[in-house]
Amino acid sequence: MSREESTKTEDYIIEHFAKEDADLVRVRERLLADNKFGVNVSAAEGKFLQFLVGVVSPKLVVEVGTLYGYSTLWMAKALSNESRIISIEHNKEHYERAREHAAASNVAHKIDIRHGDARALLPTLGVTPDMVFIDADKPGYRHYLDWAMQTVRIGGVIIGDNTFLFGHMLGEDRGQKTSPAAIESMRYFNMTLAMAPNFRAIMLPTYEGMTLAQRLS
Ligand SMILES: C[S@@+](CC[C@H](N)C(=O)[O-])C[C@H]1O[C@@H](n2cnc3c(N)ncnc32)[C@H](O)[C@@H]1O
Repeated sequence: MSREESTKTEDYIIEHFAKEDADLVRVRERLLADNKFGVNVSAAEGKFLQFLVGVVSPKLVVEVGTLYGYSTLWMAKALSNESRIISIEHNKEHYERAREHAAASNVAHKIDIRHGDARALLPTLGVTPDMVFIDADKPGYRHYLDWAMQTVRIGGVIIGDNTFLFGHMLGEDRGQKTSPAAIESMRYFNMTLAMAPNFRAIMLPTYEGMTLAQRLS
């Protein structure tokens, strides 16, 4: 699908299925004002993540890569009152913004944003998540995946965004540079999940690519 086709289908989905509430509009406007809109998931992807939260009914979601908390809020809004999302962000300014947006939302009590490098923080969490959403630096994906595959509960779900790596997994040049470390990491991410006997995995053909896997044993 070309970028134009993808935009058209997403616009249709967003118009009919992914309306933002006031909390999400607040985050989007801030992202736009700071020239960071588009680094976040789209509203359609946010609603899809929210849908998954509704189906999986996680007690704990771990998100790697918060930015301003847009995807965090989409997911938090489908969590039950006893459930939580821990979201990790290493950029201080992003972390502060995300904390503001979480605090101003109607799901503040479900959101726990942690400041730090996910590679260092994840192993210290000591949790068994039901859902892990990976959306941070691409060279880190392989490390986040290793952690997630070991810790997610049986029946739980791992999701990785941008898993076509801006076309590089498809041999396409979309004008976005990457690094050998990112290519290696994303190949590892997709191929490990595709071949893991104890996971059921699939990719969604969004423009950016989204890989999903459920732990079976
Ligand atoms: C694509 S953005 C996340 C977008 C967010 N999930 C959303 O859709 O609203 C990636 C974020 O990961 C953060 N990040 C990058 N490397 C990181 C690391 N090693 N540890 C924690 N956060 C990291 C970046 O600062 C950035 O805010």
